Amino acid sequence: MRVPLLDLKLQYQKIKPDVLQAIHQVCEDQAFILGPHVEAFEQEIAKYLGAAHAIGVTSGTDALLLALMAAGVNPGDEVLTTPYSFFATAGSISRVGAVPVFVDIDPVSYNLDPSKVEAALTPKARAVIPVHLYGRPADLDPILALASGEGLAVIEDAAQAIGASWHGKRVGTLADAGALSFFPSKNLGGFGDGGMVVTNDAALAAKVRRLRVHGSERRYEHIDIGINGRLDALQAAVLRVKLAHLDEWTQTRRRNAQRYVDLFTRAGLYEMLAVPSLVDGHVFNQFVIRSKRRDELKTFLASREIGTEVYYPIPLHMQPCYRHLGYGEGDFPEAELAARETLALPIYPEVTETQQAFVVEMIDQFYHS
Ligand SMILES: Cc1ncc(COP(=O)(O)O)c(C=O)c1O
Repeated sequence: MRVPLLDLKLQYQKIKPDVLQAIHQVCEDQAFILGPHVEAFEQEIAKYLGAAHAIGVTSGTDALLLALMAAGVNPGDEVLTTPYSFFATAGSISRVGAVPVFVDIDPVSYNLDPSKVEAALTPKARAVIPVHLYGRPADLDPILALASGEGLAVIEDAAQAIGASWHGKRVGTLADAGALSFFPSKNLGGFGDGGMVVTNDAALAAKVRRLRVHGSERRYEHIDIGINGRLDALQAAVLRVKLAHLDEWTQTRRRNAQRYVDLFTRAGLYEMLAVPSLVDGHVFNQFVIRSKRRDELKTFLASREIGTEVYYPIPLHMQPCYRHLGYGEGDFPEAELAARETLALPIYPEVTETQQAFVVEMIDQFYHS
């Protein structure tokens, strides 16, 4: 039995006629840059999340970049964030000329440990970027409280967490701005790159809207130095079709997560593998376990045709491009341990019960043979 980490072809087969019709419509309209498909998708996302504004942009990376620019994060400012995320979280901070200041994670949620944020504050701090990693909502309350006391902007990196919620509100809408990614492997994935900035702040929304078209509101007049950061109309058309299925797919991901919990519990592996629990609002973009023998386990599962992945093997403070920041091994022990131990298992909505049972059986075999 083959169990890929993700199989997008299965999802495509189910929605193919609608997707092809949507693409066909864009081709008929020959309206590829912004226009009605992008506008409609922005409104649908705003409604879905309960955000006042949604601005379609090129990617999740540009969503972070544009949110930071619009929030007025300037060269030399410090932005606090997690060292355990996809590179774009920190890269976007550096791209605006600011400096990422890392804060260790909580070993259970894999998200920023709020109790450690305050100690990392300096007078140069201007913003915080909590990441809802793997689709699990970060513990935002203490971060928002601290930020409001210190006058810091908070930008949620919700790239992996569309539809996740925190105290009943969708993540991305709880702070100054949220960044979404429509990278194909995300819970709402396009046929290429795509992203969105969401916010309840009208002034910030207007600024992002302007910055994504080279800082222009009127043709060929440039108020700010922006970027070409627009969401593609073809992507918007495809994503509109998919958005109608998102809640059902999310529920299926949660059902699959519960299945793993049950299977690992029955196999007596639940605690040893630090199997994630189904906390409220978690949308399981990834289902991540831990193993002291992670690399061996990954190789063993690959030999049984089970796809797994390590998100992420090198913490951000250990990246070659950040050597100049002066961090070293041991600075963020929880992030470093997670980078050595975590392993993502297949959790996509179409993975079958039989395939999940096989994954757990093979992990059991790895430990007991
Ligand atoms: C946590 C996180 N932040 C930012 C990004 C960047 O998104 P994109 O790949 O759409 O640029 C990603 C996804 O790749 C991500 O997982």
